[in-house]
Amino acid sequence: MKNIRLAFLGLGTVGGGAYEILQMNKDIIEERTGCTFQVTRVLEMNHDRLRQLGLDPEIAVTDPSLIYNADDVDIVIEALGGIDFPAEIMLKSLENGKHVVTPNKAAVAANFDKLWEAAGRGNAQFRFEASVGGGIPALTAIQEALAANEFTEVMGIVNGTTNYILTKMSEEGWTYDEALADAQAKGFAEQDPTSDVEGIDAANKLSILMSLCFGIYVHPDDIPREGITKITMDDIEEARSTECTIKLIAGAEKTEDGVKYEVAPRFIPNSHPLAGVKNEFNAIYVTGNAVDEVMFYGKGAGALPTGSAVVGDIIAIARDM
Ligand code: HSE
Repeated sequence: MKNIRLAFLGLGTVGGGAYEILQMNKDIIEERTGCTFQVTRVLEMNHDRLRQLGLDPEIAVTDPSLIYNADDVDIVIEALGGIDFPAEIMLKSLENGKHVVTPNKAAVAANFDKLWEAAGRGNAQFRFEASVGGGIPALTAIQEALAANEFTEVMGIVNGTTNYILTKMSEEGWTYDEALADAQAKGFAEQDPTSDVEGIDAANKLSILMSLCFGIYVHPDDIPREGITKITMDDIEEARSTECTIKLIAGAEKTEDGVKYEVAPRFIPNSHPLAGVKNEFNAIYVTGNAVDEVMFYGKGAGALPTGSAVVGDIIAIARDM
């Protein structure tokens, strides 16, 4: 069997989740790919975390060039978080012909064109399924199974924290602060939840969706956005009285004047499939001129759901190798 050599940048929630899945489902992954997978390097300072996952701390490095210049690395899994530092490592890895997999929506959205071009120059694969909707396989479907379509609209509930807060406020009568504290305790929220509640995280994801659906790159800072911090119980009641539910929607639509896009809370009629997407669940609803309407639904955060998409990308690359 071919041995595929992996380097993990970061073994936190998502990187660690992906590694756990490689161990947990080792036999079926080997059977499906005809490959074995070996972690040869990690960029992770926390040696206790390596031991906890059963990895030898000897493979840890602190200098990322020992990963992007290494001869014994085929696929780099970037799960550090942040923007400039991980983007730089991904660019160098791709240019050096190493395949890259990442769940890092902020780094992908801020550098989409550069990363895509670097993959072309290095003849390497750049895959980021986990960056939008966690475990939901929407990006691969948009690029492959739905590739025959001209897309006319994409609407996503792509932030679990805000969907959790809005659901708890609307269905349980919780205050905004109570619901946010609970989302943080459950681990859905970003380290700084401002990114969730102000719609920044959703704008990153919308930027990626627009690149794939419409072939246009809009930097996330240029996407008009409004978060959920101003939503009151009165708004929730008003939505209810008009048979609607308030959802934070990352949406883009093709119009005669070009693609219109924004992240904002919207009243969604209860008859619409997105209205039934509750708690931390995410959904991506796309309309194509051949397939019509399609909705992808599932868990948008968490170690194993997001790790599932990361490992799916690793497997796709392994099959091509
Ligand atoms: N903070 C994000 C969310 C995590 O709440 O959806 C997944 O990107």
